[in-house]
Amino acid sequence: MTSNAPRFSRIAGTGSVLPPRRLSNDDLVRQLAARGIETSDAWIVERTGIRARHFVDDGVNASDLAAQAARQAMEAAGVQPTQIDLVIVATSTPDMVFPSVACLVQRKLGIHNGAAFDVQAVCSGFVYGLSIADAMIRAGSATRALVIGAEVFSRILDFNDRTTCVLFGDGAGAVVLEAADTPGIVASELHADGRHADILCTPGTVSGGQVVGSPLLTMDGQAVFKLAVGVLADVAHSVLAKAGRTEADIDWLIPHQANIRIMQSTAKRLKLAADKVIVTVDQHGNTSAASVPLALDAGVRDGRIRRGDTLMLEGVGGGFTWGAVLVDF
Ligand code: ACO
Repeated sequence: MTSNAPRFSRIAGTGSVLPPRRLSNDDLVRQLAARGIETSDAWIVERTGIRARHFVDDGVNASDLAAQAARQAMEAAGVQPTQIDLVIVATSTPDMVFPSVACLVQRKLGIHNGAAFDVQAVCSGFVYGLSIADAMIRAGSATRALVIGAEVFSRILDFNDRTTCVLFGDGAGAVVLEAADTPGIVASELHADGRHADILCTPGTVSGGQVVGSPLLTMDGQAVFKLAVGVLADVAHSVLAKAGRTEADIDWLIPHQANIRIMQSTAKRLKLAADKVIVTVDQHGNTSAASVPLALDAGVRDGRIRRGDTLMLEGVGGGFTWGAVLVDF
């Protein structure tokens, strides 16, 4: 990059990881049946599109998955840990109250420079993190960032609640975002509306040496569904307008992987064919903040997403939070 050129950011490499323990719907159905909870592969597939998810084993934490995904992304980008000067981890399932997962990842990877912090925007977390890293790079306060989404949602699932425990999985995805003369990140937009905080939450906290309130996820599925469908199409249109682009410019839609019906409905509103959407929810379930970078990396590694393609990344989740990032890859 020339020193007086306008500063932008670009994705230099991607990576992802899924824990080895894979549970098909039938595996989960059997486990839940042992608790007296009834569900079926047919119900899960029809309502959500999910066929399998991965769960971590005991002792594996978000920072372990995050570090693995980050190593892959750095390898793909051809950069060394010493060249990273910003680590942002999007997660709602951190290893501990503090320090942040980002600092634990820094330690695991041997990165000692620059800032490291977590972003808590639930399933929108990666899109939030990418937008923040882009802003910091443009402002000159960082040069090369790791932006990671990492979750162990299996730790906060209520396996006595069939309406939620069948939906989620664990995993991590990462990108290296670095300064560039041209974008890269073309435009982005973030939103939140805390009035909807109660429709998707894990309300417990730690106080006086104990967990106070429920530490398990609760959700009003239908309320989430209605909100998600509306905001995902709106924010994509808004980001396209900001960038002076149209729906026809999108090569790949990479939405938060919560539910195939939400994704199909968003694609329809953006007048995109179904084969323009990167779908991994069938194999990963909803991995919250990890879902967008996991899907991005899957598309890159299987050769569908190529350099020069235009990508629309979209997140939506608890808070309520949502956002979109338009990328010239
Ligand atoms: N297996 C079998 N039956 C079930 C299950 C299950 N796992 N879960 C619920 N049911 C039953 C209910 O008990 C209900 O039975 P009833 O009619 O006898 O009362 C019936 O199925 C219908 O339940 P609904 O909740 O109305 O089902 P719905 O069609 O709304 O689907 C779902 C539920 C899949 C959660 C849907 O609302 C949804 O997709 N919401 C979006 C939420 C989402 O994807 N959240 C992910 C996290 S949020 C995010 O990432 C943005």
